[in-house]
Amino acid sequence: MLRIAHISDLHVLDLAGTQWHQFLNKRVTGAMNLAGIRRNAHPVSLAEKLADRLAAGDIDHVILTGDLTNLALDSEFKRVLEVVQRIGPPSFVTVIPGNHDMYTRGALRHHRFEKWFGPYLVDDADEHHSALTKGRLHYPFMRAPAPHVRIYGMSSAIPTPPLLAFGHVGRHQLDRLRQLVAEEPPEVTVRLCLVHHNLHHRIGAAEYVASLVDRKAFSRVMHEIHATAVLHGHTHHPHQGHLPARKAKADATTDRIDEEKLIESEIADLGGDIPVLGCGSSTWSKKGRDLARFNILDIDARGIHAISSMRWSAENAQFELEHQDLLTKAMAGKNAILL
Ligand SMILES: [Fe+2]
Repeated sequence: MLRIAHISDLHVLDLAGTQWHQFLNKRVTGAMNLAGIRRNAHPVSLAEKLADRLAAGDIDHVILTGDLTNLALDSEFKRVLEVVQRIGPPSFVTVIPGNHDMYTRGALRHHRFEKWFGPYLVDDADEHHSALTKGRLHYPFMRAPAPHVRIYGMSSAIPTPPLLAFGHVGRHQLDRLRQLVAEEPPEVTVRLCLVHHNLHHRIGAAEYVASLVDRKAFSRVMHEIHATAVLHGHTHHPHQGHLPARKAKADATTDRIDEEKLIESEIADLGGDIPVLGCGSSTWSKKGRDLARFNILDIDARGIHAISSMRWSAENAQFELEHQDLLTKAMAGKNAILL
């Protein structure tokens, strides 16, 4: 049995040494947010307690699905790197970026996330490959915490105009994912795909301003590669759902699919339902309410055995078991993610 913890959206804030001119861009709206509704919403002290819990000895590997920072400042990356190092070494932790880690065009251009977290982004199959290879972004990268388990770290993080937070994976990453899966040794039975943005539809404006714009193409490839599960962040509330088994075009090279127009020979049945889980923010403390959570995935030789959630209790100063069987919840018919 392998125990994997899924954490997300730490949003560690640290403005040490930041100059005023660094706010003359999109960060102006982000800073207003931080001074307002997000003030003290993600205490660094809670991130440190989370790190200590994850390092306690009963977890085999930790997955962090993005939004480590708020404004993609070097001071924030420095502080959150300390938190991640407190969780464990690169062999113990897999990290992908979120939209807040690519908050500005400068953050993307300077590969700020990849430079700070370089050792955590090295491919387990090839030490010369990482998410930043020869000065260029090269997602996904692969981690193998056990011989039968593959973790694929995708990036949906892109800088967006103020007040927008949508994401995009792109065909290049999906093609590379197909290639990495094709190169897997036969003992691989579990395939976890990480992406920061959620796949499910959200209520209100978030659906239009903060979604994964190519989620249909992404989801189709999840079926194609027989993903065991998709793990995401972005939504600070936890979410459980699944991509329903469906007939899809075997060669998923287009972003649009019109099954009525496909002839039967072009259609392949691409496997079963795929669970999709967002663990919620693991440091969220809204007006003193305990909202910080993380998930634990128990994985055996055949796949995911169980998924449970842990929730912070300020009263007892520890993370406590909240739900024991999120996998069943995710697979319930009403929780199908219809794209
Ligand atoms: Fe996000």
